[in-house]
Amino acid sequence: MIMVENIIQAKDVVKSYVLGETTVNALNGVSLDVKKSQIIMILGPSGSGKSTLLHILGALDHPTTGDVYIKGKKISELDDFSLAVFRRYYLGFVFQSFNLIPTLNVLENVLIPTIPDGKNEEKTQRAISLLKAVGMSHRLKHKPAELSGGERQRVSIARALINDPEIIFADEPTGNLDTKTGQSIVDLILKLRDKEKKTFVIVTHDPSLTKYADKIYHIRDGKISDIKGK
Ligand SMILES: Nc1ncnc2c1ncn2[C@@H]1O[C@H](COP(=O)(O)OP(=O)(O)OP(=O)(O)O)[C@@H](O)[C@H]1O
Ligand SMILES: [Mg+2]
Repeated sequence: MIMVENIIQAKDVVKSYVLGETTVNALNGVSLDVKKSQIIMILGPSGSGKSTLLHILGALDHPTTGDVYIKGKKISELDDFSLAVFRRYYLGFVFQSFNLIPTLNVLENVLIPTIPDGKNEEKTQRAISLLKAVGMSHRLKHKPAELSGGERQRVSIARALINDPEIIFADEPTGNLDTKTGQSIVDLILKLRDKEKKTFVIVTHDPSLTKYADKIYHIRDGKISDIKGK
């Protein structure tokens, strides 16, 4: 029998934000498993905790209680430096708000995760080919403010892939794209899953994306309300 590896495991994750006298419980005990080389999607209404969950699964934020394991490592046991290195080499992130640096051009933004490794012609060529794959190679010298929302989104997708991460987290990656561009991103995701065994955890409302999910978690009020797929 072949054992399928759980590349991510979350156990009873609770995330509370204390604001003065009130406490917001963004996540109320979420447990989930992500298998390698699958596309997992997280769906749910606005404010249900999707982005919070994605940040915690991607080791960008700590749960208030509960545990997250990535590649068998308990994330809360890594110190900040080890965590930063781990994130840089294994995880890619496409943020809901893109998080591009306004003073850097498109090519420089994609190269940000490679800065600690020093300047490297191979990475520059990889950045250019990723920008080509997302249809942005004609805008290498543009600054984020000179791009449309969908173009910024595509730059942030290229940046998430620059260090060839095993796991890619994406918050509404096709939210600003037209049907044709959205489909090219879908094709890229499917290719990365099938040819390179990449794992994706994607927050989305986009029906043209959800039909490709291996597993869908619905969340509501910070809890998993429904699971489809294995
Ligand atoms: N830093 C924070 N401080 C306080 N409350 C927060 C913080 N971040 C999120 N929240 C609250 O936690 C809840 C979940 O937020 P989250 O951003 O995860 O929702 P979401 O499902 O991603 O919504 P959307 O679809 O609108 O992006 C919301 O009620 C939000 O107001
Ligand atoms: Mg969100």
